[in-house]
Amino acid sequence: MKFSDRITAMECSPIRKLIPYANKAKEKGKKVYHLNIGQPDIATPRQFFDAVKNFNCEILTYSPSNGIPELIDAVIPYYRNYGMEFSKDDILVTNGGSEALLFTLMSLFDKGDDIVIPEPFYANYKSMFQVLEINVVPISTKVEEGFHLPSKAEIEKIITPKTKAILISNPGNPTGTAYTREEINTLASVAKEKGIFIISDEVYREFVYDNLDYASFGTIKDIEDNVIIIDSISKRYSACGARVGLIVSRNKEFMTNAFKLCEVRLSVAELEQIGAAALYKTPQNYLKEVNEEYKKRRDIVFEALSSMEGVVCRKPEGAFYYMVKLPVDNAEKFVIWLLEEFDVDGETLMMAPADGFYETEGRGIDEVRIAYILNESDLLKSMNILKEGLKKYPGRTTK
Ligand SMILES: Cc1ncc(COP(=O)(O)O)c(C=O)c1O
Repeated sequence: MKFSDRITAMECSPIRKLIPYANKAKEKGKKVYHLNIGQPDIATPRQFFDAVKNFNCEILTYSPSNGIPELIDAVIPYYRNYGMEFSKDDILVTNGGSEALLFTLMSLFDKGDDIVIPEPFYANYKSMFQVLEINVVPISTKVEEGFHLPSKAEIEKIITPKTKAILISNPGNPTGTAYTREEINTLASVAKEKGIFIISDEVYREFVYDNLDYASFGTIKDIEDNVIIIDSISKRYSACGARVGLIVSRNKEFMTNAFKLCEVRLSVAELEQIGAAALYKTPQNYLKEVNEEYKKRRDIVFEALSSMEGVVCRKPEGAFYYMVKLPVDNAEKFVIWLLEEFDVDGETLMMAPADGFYETEGRGIDEVRIAYILNESDLLKSMNILKEGLKKYPGRTTK
């Protein structure tokens, strides 16, 4: 029996592929700090659980394919608060941002169409591109430049008649880069002039630090028809397990097409949507406090990384990730070595080797992604393990 070429071409997630090594380390009694995965440790607001507990019904029926009215009604004022006015028809509730992405890509791309995307990019995008046979055209960005975008002329050069969309994660996973208003305006004008879509993945919208001027594509005028926003409660409200996301767009034709896919999967779990609706009413203060907590963690990690000889990184403006260049021959080998052969007082750490976040062969070989999703004390311990590990690693490339 044979499986599809599409599925066999799909690669394993770089974030998860080293988990067997971590499991073995744990079996041997080592404590492993997981900085490889973007699973926040912040408590989900009580409002979620209270709303689910108080929900009363006789039968859990299929709910509307576009999402339950309570949730859509709660989401509209949330966006209004950020200066974005959307109507009910501009919103589709999905099973996480992941399904929102998948449905968007399925609605826009035929086999062999081009997607333009800054690299490095979120590894699950790659799996979706592979399974949908979308051709990836990367915009090259570098750690030394904080992964910011090249000039408009450089971006225009790679747009072809086969380009359907530019996909951008802002603030970015895995880079932590929050693009400037100027960068957003540049992409908007490219999209407008070339008549292509912008898929703006804004699941980390609230995770922008230092009072930076964050610009959502939903606020940019005259490109309403080009913009599709991907959203999610996973990171915003530390509710990854709820699996509630959104597609938001004012492009009616796109929404009609994406809705067909929503109908095929019938509905999103109603109880989770009830909980999500309550989350969107959580006082704004919650988001402010979470932002301050992550900013503190970002700064701790930056200070630690800056003190490590040979490590290259810039302080990221947002999300909760660092992409870091390490003085090692191969980041994957280094991560495996940390798990198999190294510890500080019985403790070690796991990071995500970065080559899986790149499309271009050979890029990211000496880089890792660090997710700063642990508390202060665990982060400090992890950074100390990294520092000591780099000193002892046999494949170190600089003194
Ligand atoms: C950039 C980005 N987009 C989308 C997602 C998917 O989020 P979810 O499906 O949990 O909403 C993630 C999850 O890590 C992400 O980092």
